[in-house]
Amino acid sequence: MAASSIRFGPGCTKEVGMDFKNMGSNRVCVVTDQNVAKLDAMKQVEQALGSEGVEYTVYQRTMVEPKDYSIREAIDFSKAYAPDAFLAVGGGSVIDTAKLMNLYTNYPSASFLDFVNAPLGLGKPIDKKLSPLIAVPTTAGTGSETTGTAIFDLVSKKAKTGIAHRALKPTLGICDPYNTRTMPSAVHASSGLDVLCHALESWTAIPYQQRVPRPPNPINRPAYQGANPISDIFSLQALKQTIKYLPRAAKDPDDFEAQSEMLLAATLAGVGFGNAGVHLCHGMSYPISSQNPAKYKHYGYQSSDPIIPHGVSVAVTAPAVFKFTAPSNPERHLVAAEAFGVDTTSVKRGSEGEVLAEALARFLSELGDQPRGLKGLGFQGKDVEELVEGTIPQKRVLMLAPGLSLDVEREREQLGDLFEDAMDY
Ligand SMILES: NC(=O)c1ccc[n+]([C@@H]2O[C@H](COP(=O)([O-])OP(=O)(O)OC[C@H]3O[C@@H](n4cnc5c(N)ncnc54)[C@H](O)[C@@H]3O)[C@@H](O)[C@H]2O)c1
Repeated sequence: MAASSIRFGPGCTKEVGMDFKNMGSNRVCVVTDQNVAKLDAMKQVEQALGSEGVEYTVYQRTMVEPKDYSIREAIDFSKAYAPDAFLAVGGGSVIDTAKLMNLYTNYPSASFLDFVNAPLGLGKPIDKKLSPLIAVPTTAGTGSETTGTAIFDLVSKKAKTGIAHRALKPTLGICDPYNTRTMPSAVHASSGLDVLCHALESWTAIPYQQRVPRPPNPINRPAYQGANPISDIFSLQALKQTIKYLPRAAKDPDDFEAQSEMLLAATLAGVGFGNAGVHLCHGMSYPISSQNPAKYKHYGYQSSDPIIPHGVSVAVTAPAVFKFTAPSNPERHLVAAEAFGVDTTSVKRGSEGEVLAEALARFLSELGDQPRGLKGLGFQGKDVEELVEGTIPQKRVLMLAPGLSLDVEREREQLGDLFEDAMDY
């Protein structure tokens, strides 16, 4: 279990200048995106750094749902500035980009694919300490302020992938509920669905003592360990909190209590899945959002390009996924159904997956503006083969998927069936 350092509370963004001063950093690269650059969160950050006399520069060209080329551009920027610390202010796209700027600025001669998850990259471990990175999340979703993971779209492979290692974990996450108040309703909903799936997938992941293969050296032990007694506490609490507060947070921008609780839920889920891992919803989501054959553009996102937001791409397969995983651990799936308010006293043995899938489908429908399956995102039966091909390389998360075969041909069939089943719910 690797711990995350978190500070939580309305207004705590103001302390970030003192934090850098206390750490002895005086040349900070602030990373944000063009929308967040205009928000109060950035104003607070600049005031906090200015009042402590910390020298900084702002990089605001981060791409929403980053691609390898946008990451490379950001790395070139930070290498040229040569900061001694990083500050990410934004959602997962910004925090992940900042993590990679930090990594490659500290490994100036590394090739981009050196650390990228195998088999798409070489999956080399990070063997030295990086510069301090403070993350100030402005969405309540990815939990990236707590994790050692950074995700981007590897365009040539038509799939999202990333880099995962404990060394990428931010030095400190500053979770200030004032900073998420400006999220559009659509971003609330989709980032909150990411939290829901982080919680459910880490709660149902293969247990840590059953995960294979055993690493030859502790440095090779993956950040994603499998479900374990400590991550369980975080994941289940995050699940309950998301079910209670996400509908309120997405519908009412003035419901500050619900928004604060969702920010906390995202962080709790981050600690849970950052140690236990995620599995099929995430593994299958990477080709969904990357391939996007119908050029779907989700409502409410300020992007001129087609976009299937990350949270939408993970939740769309969830009813199919948990039907599939339930036989591996029916009790856990029942506990999850209970969290959705289902009376499970008379559920028949063998139908736990159906019950959880129904509860999930109802939750997604009631949240509103969600595609009711892959067809709603413009996918058709003919796209399944390519979706499966884009999922197979996601070994980092698939190895935690209960019920998925280790035989690659059988795995292909199972994934094909899952994508077919996820066409509508
Ligand atoms: N590192 C991890 O552990 C991890 C986990 C899950 C997802 N991810 C990745 O994170 C990315 C998604 O991040 P996200 O869901 O946080 O969203 P995001 O960072 O992509 O932001 C979504 C949109 O909301 C805007 N926005 C952000 N905060 C706002 C605010 N307070 N007010 C108004 N607008 C705001 C952004 O400018 C952007 O247009 C994906 O690339 C996903 O793969 C990473």
